Amino acid sequence: MLNAFDKPDNSAADTASSKPAADGLFITFEGTEGVGKSTQVKLLTDNLRHRGLPVVTTREPGGTPLGEELRGLLKRPSSRAAPCPPAELLMMAACRAQLMREVVRPALQKRQVVIVDRFLDSTTAYQGYGRGLDLEFIQQLHNFTLENTRPDLTFLLDLDIAIGTQRSRERGGNTLSEDRFDNEEDIFHRKVRNGFLTLARQEPQRIKIVDASLAPEEVQELILEQVIKTHKQKQPA
Ligand code: TMP
Repeated sequence: MLNAFDKPDNSAADTASSKPAADGLFITFEGTEGVGKSTQVKLLTDNLRHRGLPVVTTREPGGTPLGEELRGLLKRPSSRAAPCPPAELLMMAACRAQLMREVVRPALQKRQVVIVDRFLDSTTAYQGYGRGLDLEFIQQLHNFTLENTRPDLTFLLDLDIAIGTQRSRERGGNTLSEDRFDNEEDIFHRKVRNGFLTLARQEPQRIKIVDASLAPEEVQELILEQVIKTHKQKQPA
């Protein structure tokens, strides 16, 4: 099992596409189901606000009126209205395009900290590695929706699929989930997890793998330490 931050800094290995946010600090959280992302997003938001930093927290799909409408359509488990994989990809991209214009870019321009629960890597992992859609096309779509704005830091909360699924089921009272993605087979979630880990290997400076089997407070401590380090590095000399 991986330990937190097991990847050394290696900026030269990162792809040219990971040009960080110019002004504020842009942080994203990623991972498969039941890894505790939302808990960590909340803890980090509270911790940074206590330190006096202006923080905007949002999520994907969602975060704007249009995005939240699309989220409902994307997640509901109706077989009749379920989007096919290419439609699912474009709906995720539509949510992101809207979020960038309405929330992320304006906040970064005001030098705020932006925290997003899921972002571009979820699209590559779920629609690319999970659904098998063309990875190069997905990359082009990222270039189109994000232009030059990329996260400074991404936390990949990594956990065994069986444990994550169990956690999600317990949270949902062990009934069939109201979430179309939760109801996917384990094999799909395994592909997604491997996809995330591949992305982390490709961009070790941006994507930090965190062992999500640790206690939530321990996970938060590791995350906060890294955020403070990156925040200091971004301050003008
Ligand atoms: P969550 O907010 O509970 O994580 O649910 C969002 C679901 O949407 C989750 O199962 C992952 C999925 N998703 C994608 O498939 N592609 C994406 O680009 C994003 C942002 C989320």
